[in-house]
Amino acid sequence: MNTPPQFEILKKISLKPCHTFQLDASAEYWVELHQPDDILKLMDTPVFHRENRFVLGGGSNVLFTQDFPGLIIKNSISGIEIISENHRHVVLRTGAGVVWDDLVKYAVGRGWGGLENLSMIPGLTGAAPIQNIGAYGVELESTFISLDAVHLKSGITESFDRDMCRFGYRDSIFKRTHKGTHLITHITLKLNKSPEVNLNYGNLKEILVSEGINHPDIRDVSMAVRKIRASKLPDPAITGNAGSFFKNPVISAEQFDSLRSIHSDIPSYPAGNRVKIPAAWLIDQCGFRGKRLGDAGVHERHALILVNHGKATGSDLIGLASAIQQEVSERFGVTLEPEVNIVGGDNPLSAGSGSGSGS
Ligand code: FAD
Ligand code: EPU
Repeated sequence: MNTPPQFEILKKISLKPCHTFQLDASAEYWVELHQPDDILKLMDTPVFHRENRFVLGGGSNVLFTQDFPGLIIKNSISGIEIISENHRHVVLRTGAGVVWDDLVKYAVGRGWGGLENLSMIPGLTGAAPIQNIGAYGVELESTFISLDAVHLKSGITESFDRDMCRFGYRDSIFKRTHKGTHLITHITLKLNKSPEVNLNYGNLKEILVSEGINHPDIRDVSMAVRKIRASKLPDPAITGNAGSFFKNPVISAEQFDSLRSIHSDIPSYPAGNRVKIPAAWLIDQCGFRGKRLGDAGVHERHALILVNHGKATGSDLIGLASAIQQEVSERFGVTLEPEVNIVGGDNPLSAGSGSGSGS
């Protein structure tokens, strides 16, 4: 039977409550989809064909530089389904509209390992593959099996396995050749029923030991990650932000040696035969931590987090980010590449000047 569409295309909607930077921007058209079938029905509408389109999840990694002159498609497809399991693994298929941290709690609560280090990352499950979300030594790709996505031109649902997604550090095919071409409807992950904990990152182990937990399970790891995150990242419900504004640059071993010969205390992490350096340290060294340009600011506890102190505009944040990029390039010869997705108008922050590269 041909069911009527379960959506309504709305006009002139404020985007302020729909993204974590809380900027005063609006969308010309807005639609929220709850059923995969509705995507094809939406594709039959004149608005879909006529307008620019942008797929939005939880809005925790976007910066609107202006009002969006087109159609925002908010993805709210729900549901977590077990599609197979045995005594060692469970395979889950999750709607793209499921809140990421709800999925983490669902898995951790059942003792299924693989997502605990990714606790408390804001946003929705459908966006997780876009930049291969990562934290505390784990990236999405380690549990990822596949995703389903509707091609927004043909309407065909395609399946992408891990290889096809071409995951990298804060990177996937959906940030490159497939940028904006597909709407992800579901992702499928494989979790471990006898998980081993991963305590390799930073001070995770020390924090657990300091709490008297010497043999942590995944619930303990999730709790520790939540504690660390709450202590150093601003809560977007209170202070507008999108997490790390830039990626950590990955530079050649030669460039790193030359930087270290001048800055002996520069922190670093191995990245294959290259070296990752914390963008926060570079920005901090340039004196930006706690600084502000109007209502656009650099968080006082973490130099990689740009914040909206209240009435910042997208242009204010772009202005501050440009100043940071320029200073870091001049001082260290390293180009900072934005992690945040800049939506609307030209992107003056896209890579181009200086040496060294992101991702
Ligand atoms: P959005 O911001 O809505 O969208 C991000 C991009 O994905 C956009 O390009 C959008 O078009 C696209 N997109 C979204 N949904 C779909 C879909 N269904 N189909 C196709 N395209 C889609 N990230 C990390 O990796 N690690 C962290 O530790 C981390 N910490 C953060 C901490 C804070 C306080 C904040 C505010 C952000 C943090 N982030 C982190 C960034 C962000 O949470 C992630 O990138 C998250 O996956 C974004 O999800 P979202 O649903 O909010 O996506
Ligand atoms: N540092 C400074 N000044 C600061 C903050 C940090 O010099 O103000 C230095 C310190 O040396 C510190 C190092 O930077 O050891 C790294 O800082 P942190 O451990 O906070 O991690 P990060 O590199 O800034 C990355 C991710 C985060 C993720 C954490 C934990 C990127 C771009 N960011 O942050 O992801 O949660 O590691 O794994 O890779 C995000 O992507 O939005 C995000 C928050």
